Amino acid sequence: MQRATHFLDAGDRYEPSAPLAGKIIANLFMENSTRTRCSFTIATKRLGGDFVDLLDGTSSASKGETLVDTALNLEAMGVAGIVVRCSQDTGASEIAASVGIPVINAGSGTSAHPTQALLDAVTLTRYYGTDDLSEQHIAIVGDIAHSRVARSNVIGLTKLGATVTLVGPQELVPDDLGCETSTDFDNTLSTVSAVMMLRVQFERDAQVGEDYHEKFGLTEHRFASFRGAVLHPGPMNRGLEIDDNVANPESSPHNLILSQVTSGVATRMAILEHLIG
Ligand code: CP
Repeated sequence: MQRATHFLDAGDRYEPSAPLAGKIIANLFMENSTRTRCSFTIATKRLGGDFVDLLDGTSSASKGETLVDTALNLEAMGVAGIVVRCSQDTGASEIAASVGIPVINAGSGTSAHPTQALLDAVTLTRYYGTDDLSEQHIAIVGDIAHSRVARSNVIGLTKLGATVTLVGPQELVPDDLGCETSTDFDNTLSTVSAVMMLRVQFERDAQVGEDYHEKFGLTEHRFASFRGAVLHPGPMNRGLEIDDNVANPESSPHNLILSQVTSGVATRMAILEHLIG
């Protein structure tokens, strides 16, 4: 987090020491991505490295090749590390157990998205002005059941001392993640200093009632009386979990949604430098 903060303060400059010079990073993305893949790519370039993309639909996975075999082949071609996104909960750890190069989990199934949690922690600690979040109560709201972002953020935010409450319809909020749960968004909103809104993952068969927006959406009405920070890992379902005017970057200085994206490049630079540089 400290190194990410250094890169954030340096702005969009390239790192002069170019710790990834001469190294090629493989982006193995078997699920779609805008933020994570682009920010790893930009981070690699800012550190003086090069990259190769292997994307769903263009690899030999369509012919039955396993994720681990794909990774072993990338390693045999001499890449210095693999950034992997996949639909399997244990995909990244299975690759890490099979290859001898660093493997970075860029989102595995519904289980973990650790670099997202790190960039969220960087964003929030800059917002609060301290790495100690023990005074902070943060709500993660929405489709927790299918969210790797929620699972990794529960670990990251509680490690920094924050109290985390998971909010959403009962069927989408597991009670075994080690923190408080609630089905009453308005009540929780009045007690927290930040809300992290999550997308309903219809592609993973999440189902919500017609009253979802009314009960769990960050509406303009709710936002008008809320004084804390607003986060969303993206992509957003505008008009469902968050209103258009709340999502817009100019809605408030407490809207941190694009700050999260900016933090993402710096955080991934720090991760790549630490593991591969
Ligand atoms: N937050 C996030 O993981 O976004 P992408 O799916 O676009 O990478």
